[in-house]
Amino acid sequence: MSDHNKINEEQHGKKPGTKREMSRRQFLSYTLGGAGGFMAAGMLVPMLRFAVDPVLQPKKESDWVKVVEESQITAEPKSFTFQIHQVDGWYESDPELAAWISKDSNGKIFALNPTCKHLGCTVNWNDNPEYKNQYFCPCHGAHYTQDGKNLAVAPKPLDEYDVKVENGFVYLGPLHANTRA
Ligand code: FES
Repeated sequence: MSDHNKINEEQHGKKPGTKREMSRRQFLSYTLGGAGGFMAAGMLVPMLRFAVDPVLQPKKESDWVKVVEESQITAEPKSFTFQIHQVDGWYESDPELAAWISKDSNGKIFALNPTCKHLGCTVNWNDNPEYKNQYFCPCHGAHYTQDGKNLAVAPKPLDEYDVKVENGFVYLGPLHANTRA
């Protein structure tokens, strides 16, 4: 054994070239560091999930809303308002919506959204003598048939609500493009 190796062995208590053993201090710092990291991740993951989860969820479609007794619906369109519950991410709201509801020549009940397809004003039924038995929009003069078909100004027919009749009541569901006009 060389003098250098002897000195090394005496000074450090180990042979040169062998692996250094972990000191007590290192062991404690690794253990505590690892445990701390594990605990931090344990807190962070639920927080991230809490923040991001609602954004990843699909928007909840409104449930059916009971609007009016079936017996009140005739061939003449009538306006009804109703509230829906909306959940969009973290935002929940209960907006009030409106519908013109009537029966067609076969007695089938249908409901139209009063929002004009030109620029979004509200249409009224049969309130302009020039356009008898039509929906008329006071903003720029769009008018529509009773089925919601666009006759002037507006580029599309009025949207329609899903409709179902159950136990003598009319229920309205989500809006969709007009299928009647
Ligand atoms: S918004 Fe209805 S005609 Fe323009």
